[in-house]
Amino acid sequence: MAATWTPETWRSKPVEQAPAYPDANKLAAAESVLRRYPPLIFAGEARNLKARLAKVAAGRAFLLQGGDCAESFAEFHPDNIRDTFKVLLQMAVVLTFGGRRAVVKVGRIAGQFAKPRSENLETRNGVSLPAYRGDIVNDMAFDAAARAPDPDRLLRAFNQSAATLNLLRAFAQGGFADLHKVHGWNLDFVKASPQGERYEAYAQRIDEALGFMEACEITSETVPAVRETEFYTSHEALLLPYEQALTRKDSLTGDWYDCSAHLLWLGDRTRKPDGAHVEFLRGVLNPIAIKCGPTMEPDELIKLIDILNPLNEPGRMTLIARMGADQVERRLPALVRAVKRAGRVVVWASDPMHGNTIKAANGFKTRSVDRILAEVRGFFAVHRAEGTYAGGVHFEMTGKDVTECLGGAQEISVEALSSRYHTHCDPRLNASQSLELAFTIAEEMAAWRSGSKRLAAAG
Ligand code: PEP
Ligand code: CO
Repeated sequence: MAATWTPETWRSKPVEQAPAYPDANKLAAAESVLRRYPPLIFAGEARNLKARLAKVAAGRAFLLQGGDCAESFAEFHPDNIRDTFKVLLQMAVVLTFGGRRAVVKVGRIAGQFAKPRSENLETRNGVSLPAYRGDIVNDMAFDAAARAPDPDRLLRAFNQSAATLNLLRAFAQGGFADLHKVHGWNLDFVKASPQGERYEAYAQRIDEALGFMEACEITSETVPAVRETEFYTSHEALLLPYEQALTRKDSLTGDWYDCSAHLLWLGDRTRKPDGAHVEFLRGVLNPIAIKCGPTMEPDELIKLIDILNPLNEPGRMTLIARMGADQVERRLPALVRAVKRAGRVVVWASDPMHGNTIKAANGFKTRSVDRILAEVRGFFAVHRAEGTYAGGVHFEMTGKDVTECLGGAQEISVEALSSRYHTHCDPRLNASQSLELAFTIAEEMAAWRSGSKRLAAAG
């Protein structure tokens, strides 16, 4: 029998990655302000996403989850939100059209501020200061005042999330995501690239299909799905005072939901079964995800699933493998088999970013597009071999023309990294590298489809 849960039972457990706030009263005051703010999402939306993810778990849809590594106050601008949204729409079109699957779109946005760090302190020239933990906690500048955790940042992050979500909802439902606008989502600086051209060719074919549909009286006016899309938000449930303050009891069902985002995930560094983050997430009914790094053992994973999804509810649990291109085919099969053997319903997604981070010769933290694509291919290969469904992808991107990840069709070199390296945390795919990822996934999905057709025909 599980112990009683309330939104604050996590406080009696060991809390990994917690910032050391210098003024506890100020933190409590900020939390109490947040508790009176309106929720960012409505519980019914989280239930809708769960239903969509249940379809993914059943092999009938694909999860596309992407966005910033760390949102920042400095990069808060409508153009950045718009361009991230455009690239996610483009990727979704490539997967729907090329992979022939409905795509569930989830952004790492409107709340993805808090970052786990490997060290509590950062030392430069003999001076040690608290590590930067994301704009919701402290400032990146290396001085004592900037690095002191400041509770007012919780409110600023909430406000930025609210404004971001408001624009995303407007885009998703106000006509921007109408399929007739597919050409308009191609960003100017991507258009001339091989990825942009490949996308344009897809868009032409979609135009033709829309023309045919129109003749059949399936139009933006008659069918809402042509005119608007569903877009959901997600972030790592890391900063628990913030998550608790936005946790509300749903008036329709009496159940608890974390209303800071539709989906919350448990990071690879905070997934101890008896830790505070697991305790918090077990009580909220949102769809949740667990990052599974190379140190995750099969029995540990089953234990976590038992705690977090004891009723084996479809759509509740997504497992995000982030093994690294070299390790995915070695480490993932045992986890996939254990979950299958235990009969647990999950969505399997691939995060091909976090296991492939390297330091370039000139000191830049980077990732190679080739390794990222290799991990995605390895992920699909494992599922093909195990007879399970590769259900989604989780990645860090921006709609901007940054130079943070190496290689790809643009062939970004180590020397070029410094020209437009803007991330506040990990290196992100730029718009054209993101499209490259989408084309690779679409190819893998098409291969999976023809393989399963062959199997069905043979059976
Ligand atoms: C992240 O997704 O930004 C992250 C820190 O991932 P992980 O917990 O998998 O390292
Ligand atoms: Co990251």
